[in-house]
Amino acid sequence: MDRSWLKGRRIALGVGGGIAAYKACDLIRELRRAGAQVRVAMTPAAREFITPLTMQALCGHPVLTESFDPVQETSFGHLHLARWADAFVIAPATADLIARIHAGIANDVVTTPLLAFRGPVLLAPAMNTVMWENARTQENLAALLAEPRYRKVGPNVGLLADGDVGAGRLAELAELVDAVARLGSAGRLFGKKVLITAGPTREHLDPVRFLSNPSTGKMGLAMAEEARARGASVTVVLGPVAGAAPEGLEVVPVTTAEQMAAEVLSRVDEVDFFVAAAAVSDWRPETIAAQKVKKTAAPQTLTLVRTPDVLAEASARVHARPQRPRLIGFAAETEQVIANAREKLGRKQLDFIVANDVSAPGSGFAGDANQVVVLSAAGSQTPISGAKREVAAGIWDLIDGAGE
Ligand code: CTP
Repeated sequence: MDRSWLKGRRIALGVGGGIAAYKACDLIRELRRAGAQVRVAMTPAAREFITPLTMQALCGHPVLTESFDPVQETSFGHLHLARWADAFVIAPATADLIARIHAGIANDVVTTPLLAFRGPVLLAPAMNTVMWENARTQENLAALLAEPRYRKVGPNVGLLADGDVGAGRLAELAELVDAVARLGSAGRLFGKKVLITAGPTREHLDPVRFLSNPSTGKMGLAMAEEARARGASVTVVLGPVAGAAPEGLEVVPVTTAEQMAAEVLSRVDEVDFFVAAAAVSDWRPETIAAQKVKKTAAPQTLTLVRTPDVLAEASARVHARPQRPRLIGFAAETEQVIANAREKLGRKQLDFIVANDVSAPGSGFAGDANQVVVLSAAGSQTPISGAKREVAAGIWDLIDGAGE
């Protein structure tokens, strides 16, 4: 079973109050071993079976236990968990928890973030056989599973804790992990191919000097991670940035605009979405000195020539085709933000452009937050702000087709 979707994923684990709660410990370990980050929320009943301290030690983060605890709410509150998670796993899912989820009740730290969550959810039921077979339980579960983003694993048949033999055992560990890994296929971009440019480019003058810009690649990488979390296979053509790229993405490292163009043009025919988030240098020195240029007293003149416009070339290449990728550009502006962005959208024949006022505080190149306006070719104009990953989620909600 291919568990690669788990690499870099953020999994919220909601633990219900049943004897199988202790098995959630092994699940945390295995999910982390597969490359996922795990954050845990426990119902009050779950805490009767296993302590939050055990869970905290295994997942490496504080565990959510109280809806109204000021300390928990300021550090990582329950709604933060809903925004953070790529997928939600309920294990064990007791009859009571399944009933409350179905009814839309939000009265503890598991059901509240779940009600505020839009992504894929895995239910791992575990309970006494009679409770499992009860028509109420089956109706509640069937109603949840009617939604494609809800999945179930187990329960298995076997000896139960109360001595009964029957259906109600939590699925085995390997089955649980495989089922979590399959949640990518419940994502809205499952089966889609996404190509993204991110980061700056560098145009060398000589071996030790270059023209570039302050792009950190964060917004493009956030778009990439969000697409991957929604089930897409994602390739990032990435200029030089600090730090390791997130796991689970195919990364093609490049330095110059020309290299970026070559890598993009060789792939753009095959993809469903092309997102140009890179800050490409528009100019390069006409000549690149093979050796370090020594300083002289006289002023130097640098002749610059244009680099390829990666996005415009990709757009021109695919535009006439009946089955072409959706084209999404970014526009970093310091004035007339909307007007300039709309002009670029038209000139480069894009489906969407993400306009970004890089002179506004809390917006732009470095930093973890952003505020943008997404313009569509159809004329819509949607402001989105927040952490870069949340902004990426908002952009994908608009461009992946579901919002139209
Ligand atoms: N872009 C690109 N290749 C370039 C330049 C820009 O792919 N050589 C892409 C960026 O990734 C971004 C969009 O085009 O998606 C930005 O449009 P552009 O008109 O190039 O913006 P600026 O370079 O800021 O243009 P101007 O200098 O005219 O403001």
